[in-house]
Amino acid sequence: MVDKARRTAFVCQQCGQNAPRWLGQCPGCEAWGTLVEEAVQEVRPRTSRHVAPGAAAAAAPTPLASVASGASIRRSTGIGELDRVLGGGLVQGSVILLGGDPGIGKSTLTLQACSALARSGVGVLYVAGEESPEQVRLRADRLGATDAGILVLPETSAEAVVEQLAALRPGLVVVDSIQTLHTQALASAPGSVGQVRESAALLTAHAKASGTACVLIGHVTKEGSIAGPRVLEHLVDTVLYFEGDGAHALRVLRAVKNRFGSTNEVGVFEMGEGGLAEVENASAAFLAERPVGAPGSAVLATIEGSRPVLVEIQALVSRSGLAMPRRTAIGLDPGRVALLIAVLEKRCRMQLYDQDVFLNVAGGLRVDEPAADLAVVTAVASSVRARPVPQDVVLWGEVGLTGEVRSVARAETRIKEAARQGFTRCVLPAGNVRGLPRLEGVQVRGVAALDQLFELLELV
Ligand code: TYD
Ligand code: MG
Repeated sequence: MVDKARRTAFVCQQCGQNAPRWLGQCPGCEAWGTLVEEAVQEVRPRTSRHVAPGAAAAAAPTPLASVASGASIRRSTGIGELDRVLGGGLVQGSVILLGGDPGIGKSTLTLQACSALARSGVGVLYVAGEESPEQVRLRADRLGATDAGILVLPETSAEAVVEQLAALRPGLVVVDSIQTLHTQALASAPGSVGQVRESAALLTAHAKASGTACVLIGHVTKEGSIAGPRVLEHLVDTVLYFEGDGAHALRVLRAVKNRFGSTNEVGVFEMGEGGLAEVENASAAFLAERPVGAPGSAVLATIEGSRPVLVEIQALVSRSGLAMPRRTAIGLDPGRVALLIAVLEKRCRMQLYDQDVFLNVAGGLRVDEPAADLAVVTAVASSVRARPVPQDVVLWGEVGLTGEVRSVARAETRIKEAARQGFTRCVLPAGNVRGLPRLEGVQVRGVAALDQLFELLELV
């Protein structure tokens, strides 16, 4: 590490690892040619690391019982889906990192929340590093947020922002985006790992000391991480990712870290003319364009956060002209898909080695749970056999390597959602059927193996 004031260090631009001299390969993430020289400021004494600026004395130990509980003060952002993902609203003095692809709607979502908060009497400072105040105004006009009383600051110096915060003492500051901020402490260019990290640290320290909530907007790089990969995630309280397929209007807001609430909670939005609208019935939105009677389409009941959501899994299997047939999965784990294709080949004698297999989760949702397996194999089988899956069927369940269907959690929640959306047949792991309460109008069928599943759906 650095021991003298005003030295330089070589910092990996991918993982943030420090090295005292230049190295071709990063000792941390083993990437090549990623170390860049950065000026490092005087290192503060260890004891002051976790102490807010201004509080010079080291903290004294306190009995746990005498620490005030429930001290977090929450405010509604006026957007129910956002509140839910935050764990019930915006916590005073918390720092939130909002990441996502450019153009996905990060500025729009934030400005809408700012507008509602400003109208409820919270002072809001919007630091526009990326756009001019005129551009922010244009967006605000579109969202009807112009007269909410939001202050706009076109600034890219982190020190200047902190100065303004000290003078204005707003309840919320938004930095759009953190990549445009730079601090005088470093000589490197804005956007580099060091600059992003130092600027964010400066704002975080201020937020903690002053009680100003802080939203840092960050672009996600091609590798899928916020620039300065992960260097900000441990620094902030909450990490939200805004996802979606740019071509679709549906957007999903996901919490991947939350010190003030549950993670893996999601909010669903739809981008429209007047900004982002909350989607109450996510299943209906994701199934809106489902084709009728088309082979290669299966409906999955998945659990997103605490909610069940129905989504359509689409598969297209077609003869390949390549020596190495293509396996493309959008919204699904490619490794998991490869495994399922192997199971279909080996256990169900389905010939796929000379076929291209394309899989897609319609609507741009990303599904991570193994419960998607059953819908994935069904969609593939349906495409291979060129026979549609019955329209009224919803499926879920994990598939094992021997072609067995394994139990997954929350069967009852999924059945209820299927019934609510008007589906009449649920196909689920046999192990989940026992002990399920009967539901009016829904037929529940348990399957223990893939052969049984395909027989049931007439896909053999
Ligand atoms: P924006 O919030 O600027 O994205 P980000 O900050 O993540 O880069 O939103 C970009 C897109 O959203 C842009 O293509 C225009 C579209 N949009 C709408 O469709 N409706 C609206 O009301 C607004 C404000 C934007
Ligand atoms: Mg933006």
